[in-house]
Amino acid sequence: MGRNLYLANCAACHGQQGEGAPNWQMPLPDGRYQPPPHDSTGHTWHHGDLLLFGYVKEGAASLQIQGFVSGMPAFGQTRSDDEIKAVLLYLKSLWGTKERSFQAEVSEQEPSP
Ligand code: HEC
Repeated sequence: MGRNLYLANCAACHGQQGEGAPNWQMPLPDGRYQPPPHDSTGHTWHHGDLLLFGYVKEGAASLQIQGFVSGMPAFGQTRSDDEIKAVLLYLKSLWGTKERSFQAEVSEQEPSP
Protein backbone atom coordinates (compact mmCIF):
# COMPACT_ATOMS: atom_id res chain seq x y z
CA MET A 1 0.00 0.00 0.00
CA GLY A 2 2.78 2.43 0.90
CA ARG A 3 4.58 1.66 -2.32
CA ASN A 4 1.49 2.31 -4.45
CA LEU A 5 0.85 5.58 -2.64
CA TYR A 6 4.47 6.52 -3.16
CA LEU A 7 4.37 5.78 -6.88
CA ALA A 8 1.11 7.71 -7.33
CA ASN A 9 1.94 10.76 -5.16
CA CYS A 10 5.66 11.12 -4.66
CA ALA A 11 7.61 9.39 -7.44
CA ALA A 12 7.08 12.19 -9.98
CA CYS A 13 9.34 14.40 -7.86
CA HIS A 14 11.34 12.03 -5.67
CA GLY A 15 11.98 9.39 -8.36
CA GLN A 16 10.59 5.93 -9.14
CA GLN A 17 13.10 4.31 -6.79
CA GLY A 18 13.34 7.23 -4.38
CA GLU A 19 16.56 8.35 -6.06
CA GLY A 20 15.61 12.04 -5.96
CA ALA A 21 16.25 14.64 -8.63
CA PRO A 22 19.56 14.54 -10.51
CA ASN A 23 21.87 17.10 -8.83
CA TRP A 24 19.39 17.35 -5.98
CA GLN A 25 22.00 19.05 -3.77
CA MET A 26 22.03 22.09 -6.07
CA PRO A 27 19.30 24.56 -5.16
CA LEU A 28 17.25 25.93 -8.06
CA PRO A 29 17.96 29.47 -9.35
CA ASP A 30 14.98 30.76 -7.33
CA GLY A 31 16.45 29.33 -4.12
CA ARG A 32 14.05 26.42 -3.74
CA TYR A 33 15.43 22.96 -3.05
CA GLN A 34 15.07 20.08 -5.45
CA PRO A 35 13.39 16.85 -4.33
CA PRO A 36 16.00 14.89 -2.34
CA PRO A 37 16.30 11.10 -2.57
CA HIS A 38 14.50 8.99 0.03
CA ASP A 39 16.94 6.09 -0.17
CA SER A 40 20.14 5.71 1.88
CA THR A 41 21.95 8.37 -0.18
CA GLY A 42 19.57 11.12 0.96
CA HIS A 43 18.93 12.61 4.36
CA THR A 44 15.33 11.59 4.98
CA TRP A 45 16.65 8.99 7.46
CA HIS A 46 18.32 11.77 9.48
CA HIS A 47 14.86 12.86 10.62
CA GLY A 48 12.60 11.28 13.21
CA ASP A 49 9.10 9.92 12.62
CA LEU A 50 7.32 13.02 13.95
CA LEU A 51 9.20 15.43 11.74
CA LEU A 52 8.70 13.27 8.67
CA PHE A 53 5.00 12.80 9.35
CA GLY A 54 4.51 16.55 9.78
CA TYR A 55 6.49 17.30 6.65
CA VAL A 56 4.33 15.07 4.47
CA LYS A 57 1.08 16.16 6.12
CA GLU A 58 1.66 19.92 6.27
CA GLY A 59 4.62 20.41 3.96
CA ALA A 60 7.53 22.63 4.89
CA ALA A 61 5.15 24.86 6.90
CA SER A 62 5.50 22.21 9.63
CA LEU A 63 9.10 23.33 10.19
CA GLN A 64 8.03 26.92 10.90
CA ILE A 65 11.06 28.42 9.23
CA GLN A 66 10.28 31.96 8.14
CA GLY A 67 10.77 32.69 4.48
CA PHE A 68 11.43 29.06 3.51
CA VAL A 69 9.92 28.58 0.07
CA SER A 70 9.29 24.92 -0.55
CA GLY A 71 8.46 22.78 -3.55
CA MET A 72 7.07 20.01 -1.36
CA PRO A 73 3.27 19.80 -1.35
CA ALA A 74 1.25 19.23 1.84
CA PHE A 75 -0.74 15.99 1.67
CA GLY A 76 -2.95 16.47 4.73
CA GLN A 77 -5.97 17.52 2.66
CA THR A 78 -5.88 14.61 0.26
CA ARG A 79 -4.32 11.75 2.25
CA SER A 80 -5.29 10.21 5.57
CA ASP A 81 -2.87 9.89 8.49
CA ASP A 82 -2.75 6.13 7.90
CA GLU A 83 -1.85 6.64 4.26
CA ILE A 84 0.94 9.03 5.23
CA LYS A 85 2.26 6.48 7.75
CA ALA A 86 2.14 3.77 5.09
CA VAL A 87 4.20 5.90 2.70
CA LEU A 88 6.76 6.58 5.42
CA LEU A 89 7.01 2.85 6.12
CA TYR A 90 7.69 2.32 2.46
CA LEU A 91 10.48 4.93 2.56
CA LYS A 92 12.05 3.02 5.46
CA SER A 93 12.12 -0.09 3.30
CA LEU A 94 14.51 1.80 0.98
CA TRP A 95 17.11 2.21 3.74
CA GLY A 96 19.83 -0.14 4.93
CA THR A 97 20.07 -1.53 8.46
CA LYS A 98 22.39 1.27 9.57
CA GLU A 99 20.06 4.03 8.38
CA ARG A 100 17.04 2.32 9.93
CA SER A 101 18.58 1.99 13.37
CA PHE A 102 19.92 5.57 13.26
CA GLN A 103 16.48 6.86 12.37
CA ALA A 104 14.84 4.79 15.10
CA GLU A 105 17.16 6.41 17.65
CA VAL A 106 16.39 9.90 16.38
CA SER A 107 12.68 9.10 16.64
CA GLU A 108 13.05 8.01 20.27
CA GLN A 109 14.64 11.34 21.15
CA GLU A 110 11.85 13.40 19.58
CA PRO A 111 9.48 15.06 22.05
CA SER A 112 6.14 13.31 22.24
CA PRO A 113 3.31 15.20 20.52
C1 HEC B 1 6.00 18.53 -6.56
C2 HEC B 1 7.16 17.77 -6.13
C3 HEC B 1 7.06 16.91 -4.89
C4 HEC B 1 6.15 15.90 -4.60
C5 HEC B 1 4.99 15.43 -5.47
C6 HEC B 1 6.55 15.35 -3.33
N1 HEC B 1 7.64 16.00 -2.85
FE1 HEC B 1 8.61 15.62 -1.08
N2 HEC B 1 9.87 17.17 -1.43
C7 HEC B 1 9.90 17.95 -2.57
C8 HEC B 1 10.96 18.94 -2.45
C9 HEC B 1 11.32 19.99 -3.51
C10 HEC B 1 11.59 18.72 -1.21
C11 HEC B 1 12.80 19.48 -0.64
C12 HEC B 1 12.48 20.32 0.55
C13 HEC B 1 11.50 21.40 0.28
O1 HEC B 1 11.60 22.14 -0.71
O2 HEC B 1 10.56 21.52 1.11
C14 HEC B 1 10.87 17.61 -0.60
C15 HEC B 1 11.17 17.09 0.66
C16 HEC B 1 10.56 15.99 1.24
C17 HEC B 1 10.89 15.44 2.54
C18 HEC B 1 11.99 15.94 3.48
C19 HEC B 1 13.17 15.06 3.11
C20 HEC B 1 14.44 15.29 3.82
O3 HEC B 1 15.35 14.51 3.52
O4 HEC B 1 14.56 16.20 4.63
C21 HEC B 1 10.08 14.35 2.74
C22 HEC B 1 10.05 13.43 3.94
C23 HEC B 1 9.24 14.24 1.56
N3 HEC B 1 9.55 15.25 0.67
C24 HEC B 1 8.31 13.24 1.37
C25 HEC B 1 7.43 13.18 0.30
C26 HEC B 1 6.41 12.17 0.18
C27 HEC B 1 6.20 11.01 1.14
C28 HEC B 1 5.71 12.47 -0.96
C29 HEC B 1 4.48 11.77 -1.49
C30 HEC B 1 3.38 11.55 -0.55
C31 HEC B 1 6.32 13.65 -1.54
N4 HEC B 1 7.37 14.04 -0.76
C32 HEC B 1 5.91 14.28 -2.72
C33 HEC B 1 9.06 17.84 -3.66
C34 HEC B 1 7.99 16.97 -3.77
